[in-house]
Amino acid sequence: MGNPEYLEINDCLLQELERRGQRKQLPPRGEISLASNDYLHLSRHPRLIERAAEELQRSGTGATGSRLLSGNHPLNRDLEIAIASFKNGPSALVFTTGYQANVSAIGALSGLVELLYSDALNHASLIDGIRLSRLETEIFPHNDIDWIKQDLERRLQKQGKLPRFMVVTESLFSMEGDLSPLPDFLQLVRDWNGLLLVDEAHATGTLGPRGRGGFEHAGQTWEPERVILTGTFSKALGGLGGFVVCHPDYRELLLSRGRGFVYSTALPPSVLASNLEAVRLLEEDSEIVKGLRDRVTKVRDRLNAGDSPSPILPIRGELGKMKSFREHLLESALWAPLVYPPTVPEGSERIRISVTLGWEENWIDRITEAFHKERDLKAG
Ligand SMILES: Cc1ncc(COP(=O)(O)O)c(C=O)c1O
Repeated sequence: MGNPEYLEINDCLLQELERRGQRKQLPPRGEISLASNDYLHLSRHPRLIERAAEELQRSGTGATGSRLLSGNHPLNRDLEIAIASFKNGPSALVFTTGYQANVSAIGALSGLVELLYSDALNHASLIDGIRLSRLETEIFPHNDIDWIKQDLERRLQKQGKLPRFMVVTESLFSMEGDLSPLPDFLQLVRDWNGLLLVDEAHATGTLGPRGRGGFEHAGQTWEPERVILTGTFSKALGGLGGFVVCHPDYRELLLSRGRGFVYSTALPPSVLASNLEAVRLLEEDSEIVKGLRDRVTKVRDRLNAGDSPSPILPIRGELGKMKSFREHLLESALWAPLVYPPTVPEGSERIRISVTLGWEENWIDRITEAFHKERDLKAG
C-alpha cells in the first residue's frame, strides 16, 4: 500500500507548524519542502515567468485540443527544435507530460522489437508503457549489464538467433539518486544490435557541464539510430511537459502511434513559452548548472554522501531514526518525505531529499545538524 502521508506533504507540514504556533514563519507553500524537483529553481526565474505571462495574455489559458486537432501552437515546433538541439539529437516530439512521453514512446516503438529489458528500479511511467506494450519483458537487476548479456547469450544458443530488443533505463534514477553506466549500455546495444531508451527526466538540467544530461556527463555522443531519449520539462526546467528526442523516423512513428500524443490535449502556449525560455537560458548560461553542482558537492560533503553530481540524496537507516531525523527537520521548519513501497522496493523505505538552487543557504546547516543528531543514518 502507498503511504497517504506522501500525498499530503505540504498539508501535513502546515498543520504541524500551525499546532506549534510557527505557521507565520513559513515561506509560501511548497518552498519548505526538501523534495522539490525544481533543481535549478527555474520555476521562479523572472525570464520564464515573463514569457509565460506574455503568452498567457496573447494566447489564453488552454491549448483547445490535441496537437493533431486544434492544439498545435507554433511554439510546439520551436520547443521541439530547441530541446532536440539541447540534447544533441536530430528531432524531438513534445508531449503534455513526461509520463505520457514514456508510455507513448515505449508503446509506439514496441512494434520494432520482440523483447524488452527493463531496469528493476525504473520509474512507473516506463513500467506502465512496458505493460501496455504487452511485449515479452525481462526485468534486470539494477544497472546489471552482464545480466542482460548472459540472457542474450542464452537466447542466442537456444533459438539460434538474436531477438530484436530494446533496453529501457533511466540515466539518473529518481529514488536511488544514482546514475546508470550509459557508455556501457551504448556499447551493449551496438554489440548486440539493440535499441536503448533512456529516461532523462532527472538528468536534464542536472548532469553534464551544461546540463544536457547523462551522455554529456559521460562525455559521449549517442547515435539516434539506436538511442531514444525521453524526458520532462517539469523538473530542472521548471515547467510542465514531456519530450522524446529521437531519429526523425521514430518521431514519425510517435506522431501516429504515440497514443499519449494523439489522444491528449496539448500544452498551453504559456507553458510552451516558459519551457522554451528554460532551454534557451541553459543554452546561454551554464553557470546555473554549475551553481547546482557546487551546492550538491557542498551538501554531499556535509552529509558524507559520496562524490556524485546527482542532486538526489536518499537517506536511509532504521525507520525510527529516519522518523526522528524528519522530526528534527520539522523543528527547523523543513520537510522531507519518507518514501514507502510501492514507490520504492519493499523494505527500502527512505527519506528522499533533492538539492535545489531554491534552498536557502542556512538550510544546509539545519539539515546537517538534524542529520548528525541521528547516528547510523546514511546519505547518498
Ligand atoms: C524518472 C521519471 N520519469 C518520468 C516522470 C514523469 O514526468 P512528468 O512528471 O512530467 O509526468 C517522472 C516524474 O515523476 C520521473 O521521475
